[in-house]
Amino acid sequence: MDMFVVRGGRPLRGRVTVSGAKNAALPIMAAALAANGTTVLHGVPDLVDVTTLSQVLRSLGMFVERRPDNSLALTAVDEQRCLADYELVRRMRASVCVLGPLLGRRGRACVSLPGGCNIGHRPIDLHLKGLRALGAQITIDRGYVFARADRLIGTDIYLGGSFGSTVTGTCNVLCAAVFAEGVTTISAAACEPEVVDLGRYLNAMGARIEGLGTPLLRIEGVHSLAAVEHTVIPDRIEAATLLIAATMAGGRLQVDNVDAQHLAAVIDVLRMVGVGIEIRDRTVIVTAPDRIRSLDITALPYPGIPTDVQAQLTALLSTAEGISVVTDKVFPDRFMHIPELMRMGANVRREGASSIISGVKTLSGACVMASDLRASAALLLAALAADGESVIRRVYHLDRGYERLEQKLNQVGADITRVADLPETMPNSLQLSEAEQQPLAVDASDVPPPKFLSKGEFDRYRTPQ
Ligand code: UD1
Repeated sequence: MDMFVVRGGRPLRGRVTVSGAKNAALPIMAAALAANGTTVLHGVPDLVDVTTLSQVLRSLGMFVERRPDNSLALTAVDEQRCLADYELVRRMRASVCVLGPLLGRRGRACVSLPGGCNIGHRPIDLHLKGLRALGAQITIDRGYVFARADRLIGTDIYLGGSFGSTVTGTCNVLCAAVFAEGVTTISAAACEPEVVDLGRYLNAMGARIEGLGTPLLRIEGVHSLAAVEHTVIPDRIEAATLLIAATMAGGRLQVDNVDAQHLAAVIDVLRMVGVGIEIRDRTVIVTAPDRIRSLDITALPYPGIPTDVQAQLTALLSTAEGISVVTDKVFPDRFMHIPELMRMGANVRREGASSIISGVKTLSGACVMASDLRASAALLLAALAADGESVIRRVYHLDRGYERLEQKLNQVGADITRVADLPETMPNSLQLSEAEQQPLAVDASDVPPPKFLSKGEFDRYRTPQ
């Protein structure tokens, strides 16, 4: 297992390029299950999650190959296989994206239920509701979803849930509905750019989907899809993370390969707190102010502030002047980063689905533990801004979703070293000296009585009875 040693307080200057979007690449790779021929995808980031899904797809009879030009080629060679095993699915929830394409193309699917997750309760009831509405017979048995349909029939589906729309649920239902007889409508569909990218890819293969990017999708069923080449959209979450990194570390950073429209809500937040933002075609240039202002923000489905940037914005606002409130309406329990940020000096109180942040001027380096992908990004950003050295443990979470992030940041001035997580690699600066490890000796006679206690009452409290 690796950890990062980060020496904070170094401003970021220069240019950095955003990779292709993980959350677009994964459902598109899964949808390649449904194509005739070889799909070629450009811009698929080289990440642990992509490797995991490649393994899932191989287990489902796909030939998956990273080519020398860095494209990913996927061809179905054995369409009899329909089982996505627990050992693979438990490593990455997005493996559930194979459900819709398998059902649509092969008529059956057996996919492990993904299980628990660090960012809160994540059921797939809406995925199953949508697939059942299309005529699939679905049972849950021994931890697996068994889905079967000799034919899928187009229908009207409402896919909204208590927390709004579902991103991968919309992807799954969409991938099955493209093969349904007649017309399907999906209302309360997710509008995220990653769903739009999947829809464009399916349409390029011959699907007939209208309304992409709106909550109402209309799908006219087709018999088959012909494999195509497709370039995945830039990763808006990585872009947001880099913009926040430069704001927290200080300096001026040019971030290339950005679709600023996908980042409208995050850019608005950054401008509101006083960050300089310049947008030029596919580039955003960020200039950090001396100190940011506080703000009240809420993570919502697209086009709102993404829940996947909530942790990073919490880290940012922990250094703002004044009191900020951060609410997450998509994953109301996604606050595992807070206790770790507090170890770095942040002043945060959790209140239901919100955190109330009283901004501090500086954070201090500490040894902290990453709990999930975006939480680890938040800790890395805090470490870039902090005084002194930090250690971030369990960075495998970060490796799941960010391509070469520490290398990209080091190229523009950060000081991050990846080392094996062993006791001897812990920097001396974070170890307590022998004197500091001694119990604090307090001479009780030095402690003055508090004003609200009389001297006699105070003595009764301080003298062991
Ligand atoms: C996707 C993203 C993830 C992001 C999330 C929200 C991928 C691979 N992952 O996850 O990074 O944080 O969108 O933008 O694209 N829900 C239900 N029932 C369901 C499905 C979801 O109640 O059947 C709830 C969830 O618990 C959550 C909310 O709906 O509260 C949104 O979840 P959803 O959009 O489905 O997240 P994912 O698609 O899993």
